[in-house]
Amino acid sequence: MIIREAVRSATERLERHYVSNSRLTAELLLAHVLSVRREYLYAHDDRLLTEAELQALEDLLYDRIGGVPLQYILGRQEFYGRYFRVNPSVLIPRPETEYIVEAVLQIWGTRGQTPRPRIVDVGTGSGCIAVTLALEISTADVFASDVSVEALHVARGNASALEANVQFVCADVLDGISGKFDFVVSNPPYVRRDEISRLQREVREHEPHVALFSPENELSIYRRLISGAENLLLPGGHILMEVGIGMDKSISALFGSRWEKLATKSDLQGIPRTVIAKWQ
Ligand SMILES: C[S@@+](CC[C@H](N)C(=O)[O-])C[C@H]1O[C@@H](n2cnc3c(N)ncnc32)[C@H](O)[C@@H]1O
Repeated sequence: MIIREAVRSATERLERHYVSNSRLTAELLLAHVLSVRREYLYAHDDRLLTEAELQALEDLLYDRIGGVPLQYILGRQEFYGRYFRVNPSVLIPRPETEYIVEAVLQIWGTRGQTPRPRIVDVGTGSGCIAVTLALEISTADVFASDVSVEALHVARGNASALEANVQFVCADVLDGISGKFDFVVSNPPYVRRDEISRLQREVREHEPHVALFSPENELSIYRRLISGAENLLLPGGHILMEVGIGMDKSISALFGSRWEKLATKSDLQGIPRTVIAKWQ
């Protein structure tokens, strides 16, 4: 079978199984099998595929149709213009998380640019926030924590591949972290356990539950982040936390009188996504 036919047949199978973006997915899977860029498929669409290549494509189609997220199959996801390695021990970085990066850059840019801002990212996962901030603010001292040793392994690999200087530590929220910081940032697990059935199958069955589900209730980890930040932030320092849909008001209510609450950042659909407060 030649490339053109393989892409057509894979697209049809994906469509029949209601996989979204079927044509693009088929092309990305075949390009992955052949270790080439997607454009190669157009330039060589009459190239004959070997039996081994067709079998490898078949295996990947089986996984994708079975619900494995495309990012885990390809082993990468783009975040803030860079590719991060991902595997099932880390959450696949989401576009809405880029708002945390944007907001830190904006605050840092308008604060008279502390020459070497100190930043800690809690629950770093793939390292997408910490690594991006370390690269966008090259003078920053960036620390990142996670409870998952497997996630830290992925994050360290991303920092090294992207040549970002980040110090990683295995920690429960901010426990055991010392020093003073300008920014505490986090995209913590915030889905309630009883909401599991409302998650997409791909998320529920393939993304790490430690990255998705809040341990006790959905506010507990935010309480710990805020009280930890009170000990770690320099005066005028900021905390920025991603929140689940509809959680922004209850999380904003957790800040005591020594915090100045700043405007919550909303995504393009107007959904509040990033709660921000300044430590007085
Ligand atoms: C929603 S994911 C975010 C990952 C990454 N920062 C991102 O935005 O894509 C939450 C991360 O928090 C970690 N985590 C869960 N509970 C934690 C805890 N108590 N302390 C530190 N990290 C925790 C998980 O392992 C996971 O990597």
